[in-house]
Amino acid sequence: MPTKKKRKSKFRAPKGMRDLLPEDQVYWEKVRQVVKNLAKGYGFGLLETPILEDVDLFIKGTGQYTDIVEKEMYNLKTKGGDKLALRPEFTPAVIRAYLENGLSRLPHPVRLCSLGPIFRYERQQKGRYRQSAQANFEVIGEKDPILDAQLIQLFFSISKDLGLKNLITQINSIGCPRCRPNYRRMLVNFYRSRKKYLCENCQKRVQQNPLRLLDCKESKCCKIAEDAPQIVDNLCDDCHSHFRSVLEYLDEIEIPYILNPRLVRGLDYYTKTVFEIWPDDEEGRQIALAGGGRYDGLVKLLGGKDMPGVGFAIGLDRMVNLIQERGIKINTRIKPLVFLVQLGELGKKRSLRLFEELRQAGLGVASSFSCNTMKAQLKRADKLGARFALILGQKEALDETIIIRYMDSSSQETVPLNKVIAKIKKKLKKS
Ligand code: HAM
Repeated sequence: MPTKKKRKSKFRAPKGMRDLLPEDQVYWEKVRQVVKNLAKGYGFGLLETPILEDVDLFIKGTGQYTDIVEKEMYNLKTKGGDKLALRPEFTPAVIRAYLENGLSRLPHPVRLCSLGPIFRYERQQKGRYRQSAQANFEVIGEKDPILDAQLIQLFFSISKDLGLKNLITQINSIGCPRCRPNYRRMLVNFYRSRKKYLCENCQKRVQQNPLRLLDCKESKCCKIAEDAPQIVDNLCDDCHSHFRSVLEYLDEIEIPYILNPRLVRGLDYYTKTVFEIWPDDEEGRQIALAGGGRYDGLVKLLGGKDMPGVGFAIGLDRMVNLIQERGIKINTRIKPLVFLVQLGELGKKRSLRLFEELRQAGLGVASSFSCNTMKAQLKRADKLGARFALILGQKEALDETIIIRYMDSSSQETVPLNKVIAKIKKKLKKS
């Protein structure tokens, strides 16, 4: 027999974008909840910025010759002629909001956390989406290296609460405007004679963005990068001692890290520390879970005072993927305390109001209004793990009473309907 083909709509989600279904939401909810809890615990205020921003903010902030701005940004022109972009990252937008809303008048450092979607027109593959979500953390106004280490610690605290282990930090320092130009020159000199052996992209990078030559994934470019001069050997005293302190703090709090002299990150604003956090296993090699670093010149570049900053962002899609791949159980099912069983027309009618009263009294309540037999409803109460079943039948509704069934012992008692909430609260207090 020919199998019936499922009728599909001709419409699909845009390439590289996906629907997050109810079965995925338990993971998303848990990840967001842990992120928000820890953000609060580490003193971050929540900041929401628009999804669209002025294109120039990213050209200036992220950098004109970065992959993000050159190739990946979704640009649009509004009816009024404004040139906007779907944000490809949070950092420049957060600094804009900090400056625009007078947050720079708050006591520093100012700690801001934002959650939401970012958009990058990337080549689609698992873990790399055109719409993805980030949890972004910025600390503005403090140059002490202890903060660089504390942000990495925050990531590991979030991971721990999500049950994610075996993660590793890759870390490097890319210097500052004092020492980097010299290193840049060394790098250009090194690559000039090797230019013809590089991939097409890297040939352009020699002039435009030579640091990115170091982290190209093409095998011929990787091979050449192995012999390239390393920036850690060419840092000024200030950057050198900053980096050493960050590593000492990480040692102190026992955060696992490896030095990666070729980690440069693809965004122009970084100074000094840069880091990424990766799963420490074979499968995870292509997928950084989080990345960040210090950006001591960005606030000034975007029109503020000379103010240091450091931050990072977590890829939430990748965190959820990893939790699912590793089969980590997320216990998000909240057991209802009370299950409301209704029988007969009057019982059903009265139960609607009672449900609301129980909910407002702060007692977790569940019910199955479309189910009409006592047996099926009690079975459901049992399955959900409710402690009390409240049985409201025709007779009880007429008598203004209700039966409390204690699910663990199956014992029951009848109480006046208007006393039931107080009675349950009393029982809870005792236990
Ligand atoms: P980023 O490394 O571009 O840094 O992104 C941070 C994280 O976002 C990545 O490690 C990854 O987990 C996730 N991510 C980025 N693009 C995608 C994608 N297309 N699909 C799935 N996940 C993705 C930044 O965005 C900086 N703004 C971080 C920062 C904050 N630096 C300082 N402050």
